[in-house]
Amino acid sequence: MTNNLEAQLLALQQEGEKAIAAADTLERLEELRVSYLGKKGQLGALLRSMGQMSAEERPKIGAIANTVKESLQTSLDQQRTALETAQIRLQLEAETLDVTMPGIYRPQGRIHPLNGIIDQALDILVGMGYTVAQGPEMETDYYNFEALNTPPDHPARDMQDTFYLPDGNLLRTHTSSVQIRYMEVEEPSIRVVAPGRVYRRDNVDATHSAVFHQIELLAIDEGLTFTDLKGTIKVFLQSMFGDLPIRFRASYFPFTEPSAEVDLEWNGRWLEVMGCGMVDPNVLKAVGYDPEVYTGFAAGFGVERFAMVLHQIDDIRRLYASDLRFLQQF
Ligand code: DAH
Repeated sequence: MTNNLEAQLLALQQEGEKAIAAADTLERLEELRVSYLGKKGQLGALLRSMGQMSAEERPKIGAIANTVKESLQTSLDQQRTALETAQIRLQLEAETLDVTMPGIYRPQGRIHPLNGIIDQALDILVGMGYTVAQGPEMETDYYNFEALNTPPDHPARDMQDTFYLPDGNLLRTHTSSVQIRYMEVEEPSIRVVAPGRVYRRDNVDATHSAVFHQIELLAIDEGLTFTDLKGTIKVFLQSMFGDLPIRFRASYFPFTEPSAEVDLEWNGRWLEVMGCGMVDPNVLKAVGYDPEVYTGFAAGFGVERFAMVLHQIDDIRRLYASDLRFLQQF
C-alpha cells in the first residue's frame, strides 16, 4: 500500500516535470499547474487516499508528497521564467530599429533675402535705440502726401506714380506715411523705424517692381542737427555694408529741408542707397509739434536695393519668383 502510493507519487513527479519542461506557452503552463497542484489536482487526489493509511506510514508519505509538490512548483517557476525571458527576447528582436536605414529627408527652410535684410537693418537700428512701428498699406492721401508737405498740386507728386483706389484712398508709395501716424500718437523724443511694403505704378523690369519694400527711420528731439543725421546714417550703413566710404549729395524731398541722397562707394563706383534730410517744419506742424522746440531727421531706403547690392542679385524679379534654386543659395 505504502510502496504503491510512493511509486505513484514519484511517477506523478516524473510525468509532471516532463510535461512542464515541454510546455511552450504560459497558458499551457498554467493548465499544468492546475492539473497537478490545483485544489482538485492530481497530487491532491493521491493524498486523499492517505486517509486509509496507518499512523506510522503517514509522515513518511507526507514527506514524500511535500518533496514532490516542491519539486513540481520549482519546475513550474523555472519554466515560467524561461518562457517569459524568451517572450521578452522575441519582442526586443521584433522592435529593433535599424539605425543604418536611410532617413526621411526634409529640406530645411531658409530666410528670404528680403526678410534677411529687414532683420539685419532692424537689429542694427533697435541696437541704436529705435522702436519698430508699422502702418497700413492702404493709406489716405493725407498720410501719404499732404501731411508730408506734399499738397495735391505739388510737383513732387510726379516723383511717385501712385495707385489710387476708387474711394480716393491709395496704396502707399513710401513708408514715410508711418512717420505721421507715429508722431500723431507719440510725443518726442522719438526714435522709430518702420519697415513695410510700398507700391508704385512702375513698369516691371530688372530694377523696378510695382510692389517693393522700404525702411523708414525718424528721430525727433530737442536740438537734433544734420550732424546727428550724418552720424546715424554712417553708423547704420557701415554696419550693413562694412567700412566703406559714403557721401551726402544735396537733393530734394518735400518732407525734409535740407534734403540729401546718400551714396556708398561699392566696387569702385558711387551707388545711391538712400534719401534723407532734416524734417521739414511743416511736417512737424502737421502733427502739432512746435518746430521752434523740436527738430529731427528722417531717412528712407529700399530693401530690394540693399539685397541686390549685398547679394549681387542682377534682377529684382528673382526676389519675387519663389524659385527654390535661387532662394536656397541664401
Ligand atoms: N520717401 C522717400 C522715397 O520713397 C524716401 C525718403 C527720402 C524718406 C527722404 C525720408 C527722407 O524719410 O527724409 O523715395
